[in-house]
Amino acid sequence: RLEKIWLTFGMAMLAVFLLILGLSAFTMGMDTPNSGHDHSVHAAKLSETPPFDHPAITQIGDREYEAVMTAWAFGYSPDQDQLVVPAGSTVHFSVTSSDVVHGFEIPGTNVNMMVLPGEVNHVSHKFDEPGEYLILCNEYCGIGHQAMFTKLIVT
Ligand code: CUA
Repeated sequence: RLEKIWLTFGMAMLAVFLLILGLSAFTMGMDTPNSGHDHSVHAAKLSETPPFDHPAITQIGDREYEAVMTAWAFGYSPDQDQLVVPAGSTVHFSVTSSDVVHGFEIPGTNVNMMVLPGEVNHVSHKFDEPGEYLILCNEYCGIGHQAMFTKLIVT
C-alpha cells in the first residue's frame, strides 16, 4: 500500500510540475518586445507572422534589397538559390530564428550578428564584388551546426 501512496504522490508532483511548466511557457509567450529592436515575433507563431510567414528577398529600390530571413536548425529560409542580387546592391537583412539562438555571419564582410527566437535583428551590407557569399551560423546550435549555411549570389 505504501507503493500506491508514493505512486500517487509521484503522479501529483508530475502534474504540478507540468502545470508550472505550462504556465511559465504561457507567461513567456506574453513577453513584450525588447527595447532596441523595432518589433518582436513569437517564435511559435513565426509561420503565421508576416513577413516571416514568407521569407524572401525583395527589391525595394535601385540596387537595394530587403532580405527577410528565418534561421532554423539547421539552415536558413529562403533557400540559397533564391538569394541572388546584382553587384553593387545593398541588402538589408532582417533575420529571426524559429527555434534556438543561431548566428548570421558573412565572412569577408561586416555582417556578423546573433539571431534570436522572438526578436528580429537587422544588418545591411553593400555587395560590390560579384561572387558567392557564404552565410554561416557561428553560434553552436546543435548537431547540425557545422552544416548550417546558405549562400548569397552576387551577379
Ligand atoms: Cu545555427 Cu549553429
